[in-house]
Amino acid sequence: MKMLFFGDVVGHEATRVLVERIAELGAEHAPDIVVVNAENCAPDGLGMGAEEVGMLLAAGVDVISGGNHSWDDDESVELLENPKVIRPANVPPEMAGRGGITVETADGPVTVVNLVDPRAIHIEGKVRPPYESWLEADRVGTVVVDFHGDHVFDKQVFAHAVDGQAAAVLGTHSHEATTRLHRLPLGTVLVTEVGMTGPIGGVQGFDPGRLVDGLVRFGDPYTRPLPVPIAGPIEVSGVLVDVTAGRATDIRRVA
Ligand SMILES: [Fe+2]
Ligand SMILES: [Fe+2]
Repeated sequence: MKMLFFGDVVGHEATRVLVERIAELGAEHAPDIVVVNAENCAPDGLGMGAEEVGMLLAAGVDVISGGNHSWDDDESVELLENPKVIRPANVPPEMAGRGGITVETADGPVTVVNLVDPRAIHIEGKVRPPYESWLEADRVGTVVVDFHGDHVFDKQVFAHAVDGQAAAVLGTHSHEATTRLHRLPLGTVLVTEVGMTGPIGGVQGFDPGRLVDGLVRFGDPYTRPLPVPIAGPIEVSGVLVDVTAGRATDIRRVA
């Protein structure tokens, strides 16, 4: 089983570029499943856009995962009704959406489980430890985890805890790709951060102007108005994972 997985897509232009790359990489590698974290694909980079999610699904994306931005606005929440769109599993059950999905592929079922670091989502006290939700998740066939969080430590400890049970633990959220590709002793591959698919030159794909202004003038970058995606060249950050009998045999970067 071959899987293509891409990290946080930021904005409309990045979605357009990714659609082109999925066609090219799909022809080159013939993946059984394509997964995209699209929590920032909306034109303003905050949450999901219906047009952009439609473009990804039309391009053959099988699963769209999310993170702390999965519920940013009504449009994002509505998109969580689509069975191919998932969001982190370890949030309160009353929040919209599903935390995982099992997809039938030509090489057997693949389950994608989406988890979030409680520190990366601002509903403190209500987010369960990711490992608890992992234990309760329906895990059929080959299992892949999108672990959405800032902390290398958390992602690495989690990956070792599920070594041999998940084929891949793929980190998202920081938007800044990490170099090392790990293969753990029992067959789980790990990359602590896949990296964003978005415009380079700014702050996680966003124009630094308002953020810098907030920091310099008020000592806090998080002042209104919110930043918008920067008009820079688009980088594509992904990985190609090979799996045999539920264990990963290889992980490579694709761009
Ligand atoms: Fe993100
Ligand atoms: Fe995020």
